[in-house]
Amino acid sequence: MAVDMEREYSAWCERMRMVEFVLPPSYTYRGREYRFVRPSRVLVSGMGGSGIVGDIVRDTCALEGCNVDVTVVKDYRLGPLKADLAIAVSYSGNTEETVVAALDALERGIPTIAVTAGGLLSRLGVPTVTVPRAAAPRLALAQMYSAVMGVLGELGAYGLDVEKACRCMSVDAGLVGRLEELFMDGSIAVIAPTPLHGTALRVKTELNENAKRLAYVEVLPEAHHNFITAIEGERPARALVVDHGRLAEEYRARIDVTVELLEASGVEVLRVDTSRCGYVPGDVLGFLMNVGVATVRVARRLGVDPLAIRNIDRVKAHMDRVGIVRRRFPWLD
Ligand code: F6R
Repeated sequence: MAVDMEREYSAWCERMRMVEFVLPPSYTYRGREYRFVRPSRVLVSGMGGSGIVGDIVRDTCALEGCNVDVTVVKDYRLGPLKADLAIAVSYSGNTEETVVAALDALERGIPTIAVTAGGLLSRLGVPTVTVPRAAAPRLALAQMYSAVMGVLGELGAYGLDVEKACRCMSVDAGLVGRLEELFMDGSIAVIAPTPLHGTALRVKTELNENAKRLAYVEVLPEAHHNFITAIEGERPARALVVDHGRLAEEYRARIDVTVELLEASGVEVLRVDTSRCGYVPGDVLGFLMNVGVATVRVARRLGVDPLAIRNIDRVKAHMDRVGIVRRRFPWLD
């Protein structure tokens, strides 16, 4: 049966409400004890549609204030990073980089929690939040976000109000239409200030995966020290500028001048104020729900299948044959 991807985005609130978890105060993994504390430094690891959860948590914490430092890890190893909590997010539970990063965190003695719908991560033997199923990992953003924020809430860092968020989350035909038109032709620059970097990245990845379109992200203020010089020579055809009423005045001023510069050089610009109701988690997820629907519609108009991710499947099959996890961690089989 064909998947109704638009319906999947619209179901985000129902799925956020279904997330349940009970965290023990401590647990043992391969003979070592891990004790949870109120976290001040959290590593959120994951790749692609699961990795973006960490970025969105970081954005919403930057704008809303969550009492924690969030570092996003999109790799096999954590490097020298220190933390008092690691949350490994993988919808399938089988993403090699995420599984290896979770084992790396455990090896370093960091209490680790899995957020997943199944797979290897769910069988690892660490506390796990099982998220409701979706037709693809990227369609499960809301429930994975709710799970990560819920964990932070359980440990006393930040309490997500799901009902309050849901009041800001619905499909807005006008916004979808404007985004759809912007996304239809040419190269797209997604521009956002640092506290909305993850949100901009999600727009790019939705364009990549759903619409099979190239896009790139530019972040302010850094883009004011390079990108704006590039547009004196070469320009993106279109730009989406992501704004929010909660941003500090320096970011608003930088957004204003960026829009002026882009428009003066002939770039078609859509500036979206994502502060629909003022509750950042709902504002951001609500905006991204509309981006999801718009990119699915663009895919249809371009005659491509928004659900299929053939090259990602191909790379995963290749890496599975290489067998990194099987060879390095034989006890997981
Ligand atoms: C597919 C998608 C991908 C996956 C990524 C990691 O919808 O969005 O970007 O999210 O390949 O896989 P998971 O999410 O299963 O860890």
